[in-house]
Amino acid sequence: MNITIRENFSLKKYNTFGIETSAKYFVEVHSCTELKQLLTDSFFKRKKKLILGGGSNILFTKYFDGLVIKKISNDIKIIAENEDEVVIEASAGVIWHDLVLFCVERNFGGIENLSLIPGTVGAAPIQNIGAYGQELQNVFNSLEGITLDNLEEKIFQKKDCNFGYRNSIFKSAFKNNFVITKVTLILSKNPVLNISYHDLLDPINKLDKNNLSIKDICKIVSEVRRSKLPDYKITGNAGSFFKNPAIHSDKFITLKEQYPNITGYRSCDNKVKISAAWLIEQAGLKGKKVGNTGIHVNHALVIVNYGNAKGEEIRDFQKYIKDIIATKFGIELEEEVNII
Ligand code: FAD
Ligand code: EPU
Repeated sequence: MNITIRENFSLKKYNTFGIETSAKYFVEVHSCTELKQLLTDSFFKRKKKLILGGGSNILFTKYFDGLVIKKISNDIKIIAENEDEVVIEASAGVIWHDLVLFCVERNFGGIENLSLIPGTVGAAPIQNIGAYGQELQNVFNSLEGITLDNLEEKIFQKKDCNFGYRNSIFKSAFKNNFVITKVTLILSKNPVLNISYHDLLDPINKLDKNNLSIKDICKIVSEVRRSKLPDYKITGNAGSFFKNPAIHSDKFITLKEQYPNITGYRSCDNKVKISAAWLIEQAGLKGKKVGNTGIHVNHALVIVNYGNAKGEEIRDFQKYIKDIIATKFGIELEEEVNII
C-alpha cells in the first residue's frame, strides 16, 4: 500500500473547535481506490475508524486510539440535465461552499441558502444540513458509499436516508459504519428564490426585489452568517452546539403563559419547535464564560473555545448548560455536535 499513514498525528488543525488532540493513525485518501485499499488492509481492518470531513461538527474529548480517514477531492460534475433541472455529482471531499459557488455561478438554484456552511459534501447528508429556510433533503437525489465492516458498496436514494431535522439514517442504523464517497443533487435551472427566513428580510428589502438572483441570496446569506456567527478560524466553535427542541404543544402553552415573548413553530406530531438559543439566553447564560470555554456573546447557541480549552472542558460545560435548561424549563437539550 503506498498511502502515507501518519502516527500520533495532531488533529488541532482538523477540527474547528481547535482542540489539541491526536489520532493514533491518520490518513488522507484521494480516491475510492485508495479508500478501498486502506479498508481491506489487514492491519487496519480491526482498528476503530473515524471518517473526518472538515471537523466542523465534532468535539474531540480524548486521544483517538484508531484510524482517522480524511477524504480529499474536488470533483464536481454535471451528470444529467434537461431544460428545467440539472443533476450534480460531487465527491465527498469537496468543500461544501465550493459546491455552492459552482452552482451559483451557473445559476443552478437550490443550495444558495446553504452558503458558507463549513465542512464537506460527504458530511452534508449526515445531519441533513440546513439554514435560512432550506435543508439538503429538498435538493438531495442520492449518495454512494462503502460500509466499514464488510466493505459493501451501497447506493442510497433520498427515500432510504430517513432525513429529518439535523438527522438521517447515518446517525442511527449506519452510524460509524458507512463512508459516503459521492453525493448527487437535483437543482433547478429556473431558480425560485427562497427568501422567507426572518434574517434575510431586512437585507433583501434594501435591494430591488424584482431583480434578485441566487448570487444575491448567496451574498446576503454569507453576510448574515458572518455578522452572527463567530469565525472559527479566530474563535474555535462548531456552530450551534444543540438542536432546537421540539416540545409538546401543551408544554408550549404553559411556557407561553410564563414567558409571553417565546416563539415557536409547529412541527410534526403536535409538537412545537422552539429556539434553544432563546432558552439559553433566558437562563442568563449568553456570554457566560467558564475557564477557556463559554457561550458566545453574540449567539447563545454557540459554545466557543477562548484559547486552549480541552475537549473535556467543553463537554463538561455543555452538560452544565443542559442541566440548567432542564431545571429551569423542564426541557432536555440534545447535542447537534458529534462528541468523540
Ligand atoms: P465533520 O465535522 O468532519 O464530521 C461530522 C460527522 O460526519 C462525523 O460524525 C463524521 O464522522 C461524519 N462524516 C464526515 N464526513 C463523512 C463521510 N464522507 N462519510 C461518512 N461520515 C462522514 N450545520 C448546519 O446544518 N447548518 C448551519 O447553518 C451550520 N452552520 C455552522 C456554522 C459554523 C461556524 C460551524 C463551525 C458549523 C456549522 N454547521 C452547520 C455544522 C457543520 O458545518 C455541518 O454539520 C457540516 O456538514 C459538517 O461537515 P464536516 O465536513 O466538517 O463534518
Ligand atoms: N435567539 C436568541 N438568542 C440568541 C440567538 C437567537 O434568543 O443569542 C433566538 C431569536 O429569537 C432568533 C431565534 O433564536 O430569532 C433563531 O435564531 P437564528 O436565526 O440565529 O437561528 P438558530 O435557531 O439559532 C438555526 C440553526 C443554524 C442555522 C440558523 C439559520 C439549529 C440548531 N441551528 O440556528 O445552524 O444557521 O438556524 O437557519 O437548527 C448549525 O446547525 O450549526 C447552525 C449554525
